[in-house]
Amino acid sequence: MAIDTPGTRSDLAPALEVQHVGKTYISRRHRIEAVGDLDFAVRSGEFVCIVGPSGAGKTTILRCIAGLLAPTTGAIFLGGSRVDGPPTDLAVVFQEYGRSLFPWMTVRQNIEAPLKAKGLARSERDRIASEAIAAVGLDGSGDSYPWQLSGGMQQRTAIARAVAFEPKVLLMDEPFAAVDAQTRADLEDLVRNVWERLGVTVVFVTHDIDEAVYLGDRVLVLSKSPTYVLDDITVPLPQQRDQLATRSLPEFADLRARVYARIQEAKKRNPSELVETA
Ligand SMILES: Nc1ncnc2c1ncn2[C@@H]1O[C@H](COP(=O)(O)OP(=O)(O)OP(=O)(O)O)[C@@H](O)[C@H]1O
Ligand SMILES: [Mg+2]
Repeated sequence: MAIDTPGTRSDLAPALEVQHVGKTYISRRHRIEAVGDLDFAVRSGEFVCIVGPSGAGKTTILRCIAGLLAPTTGAIFLGGSRVDGPPTDLAVVFQEYGRSLFPWMTVRQNIEAPLKAKGLARSERDRIASEAIAAVGLDGSGDSYPWQLSGGMQQRTAIARAVAFEPKVLLMDEPFAAVDAQTRADLEDLVRNVWERLGVTVVFVTHDIDEAVYLGDRVLVLSKSPTYVLDDITVPLPQQRDQLATRSLPEFADLRARVYARIQEAKKRNPSELVETA
C-alpha cells in the first residue's frame, strides 16, 4: 500500500513518528501542560527506552501513540499513517495492569481474546496461548482468574497477552514494576528475545536506568513537565545481551552514568531553562 492520501505518508516512513506533540489536560479547575513539545522518531524494529522524572508525561505520550488520547498539538504517525484512534497491529502493556485484564476471563481467555479478534483458529490460539503462558512462567495458572493472582502474576498475564498478539509495535509502560528482581531479569530477557524473533518495534518506559540501558538500542531521556526530549542516547552494546556479562561491561557503566546524570538534570530543568549544549 503506497498510495499517499491526506494524513498518510510514504511506506519508507519510520515505524513511529512523534512530531512536536504537546498535551495539555484541561478540566474546569485546572490546566496542566503535561507534554510540552516531544519530537522523535523510531525506526522499524528499533527498541527504544524512555526514562524521565515521575509526572513527566511518559504514560501520556504512550496513550497518545496508542490512539487513546488526542494530542493537543502536533501529530503522531505509525507506519506513515496518522494516529487518530487505536491502531491495529499495536499492543500496549499498561502501567495499571490491574485494570487492563478482563476480570471475568481466565488467564488463558485473556491471552486468547485478541487472537480471536485477529481471526485465528481455536487450535492455533490454544498453542500460542500455551507458549505465552509458559514463557512468562505462569504454567498452572492458565485457568485462574486475574483476581486470584498476585500483582506480579497479573502483570505477567498482560505481558503474555501483548507478546502472543505479535504486534508490529509494542508499547510497554513500566511493565516490570510489580515483579521481583529475578522474575524481572527473566522478563527482560523474554521481551528482548521476542523483539529479536519478531522484529517488533518496541517503546519501553521504565524508571530503572540499568533496565533502560540493558534493553534498549536507544534511550530517550525526558525533561520534567512540560516535557521535551532532553537527551537521545544510542546504546552501542552488543546485540546479544546477557544479564551478567553485559551489565559488567565498562561501556554499560559509562552509559548508565550518562543517563543518570541526565535524569538528575531532568528533575531540575524545564524548557525555559534549556541551554543548548553541543
Ligand atoms: N487524565 C488526566 N487529567 C489531568 N491530568 C492528568 C491526567 N493524566 C495525567 N495527568 C497529569 O499529567 C502529568 C503527566 O502524567 P503522566 O501520568 O503521563 O506522567 P508519567 O511520566 O507517566 O509519571 P509516572 O512516572 O509517575 O508514571 C502529571 O502532572 C499528571 O498529573
Ligand atoms: Mg506513568
